[in-house]
Amino acid sequence: MEEYLQFLSEILIPEDQLQHRVAELGEEITKDYEGKHPVLICILRGGVMFLTDLMRHIHTPHAIEFMAVTSYGSGRRETSGQVKITLDLNTEIFDRDVLVVEDIIDSGNTLASVLELLSTRRPKSLYVCTLLDKAERREVEVPIRYRGFIIPNKFVFGYGLDLDDYYRNLPFIGVVDTDQYQAYQESQIDSLP
Ligand code: IMP
Ligand code: MG
Repeated sequence: MEEYLQFLSEILIPEDQLQHRVAELGEEITKDYEGKHPVLICILRGGVMFLTDLMRHIHTPHAIEFMAVTSYGSGRRETSGQVKITLDLNTEIFDRDVLVVEDIIDSGNTLASVLELLSTRRPKSLYVCTLLDKAERREVEVPIRYRGFIIPNKFVFGYGLDLDDYYRNLPFIGVVDTDQYQAYQESQIDSLP
């Protein structure tokens, strides 16, 4: 039995639904950016699987770039307004059409700081494409141009999103059963030599 099945409470978005929506977003982006040469900026690491699937559906010339940030959180799964760049872009974005590709927007703190920072580099345009939007958790308004799904306030994993760094490889979005997950973690500690 695969380990994650012990703490998967439900599959929130199955693979076929994800793939269908990602293709739709790609078509929309293709239309909107026709004749432009946008640069897609993926925030590591959660957005990687989404980016690589999405770009296969974008049929206008585009570049990809990666950026990594750490946020200083108030708790393990909370973020504050402070972010620090741990990996910066390899290219200038001045006068470019920039599209930030994110896995999930929760409080909005991370993305708000990233957008503030990117806008100081004066891109020609700056928009956001997020796969998931935990809308009810929003603390800071962030403009979202492309949105895959609005989801309830549950901790999710898979399709790029991690559960303590693991399970990003799963092809669907699953909900964590937090009690079961805690029990699983305790059983892991108990079985250490
Ligand atoms: P925010 O700054 O509160 O919007 O947090 C955004 C970041 O928190 C995302 O880029 C994710 O890395 C992480 N995150 C928020 N909710 C979840 C979740 O349900 N599962 C996995 N990661 C999450
Ligand atoms: Mg992330």
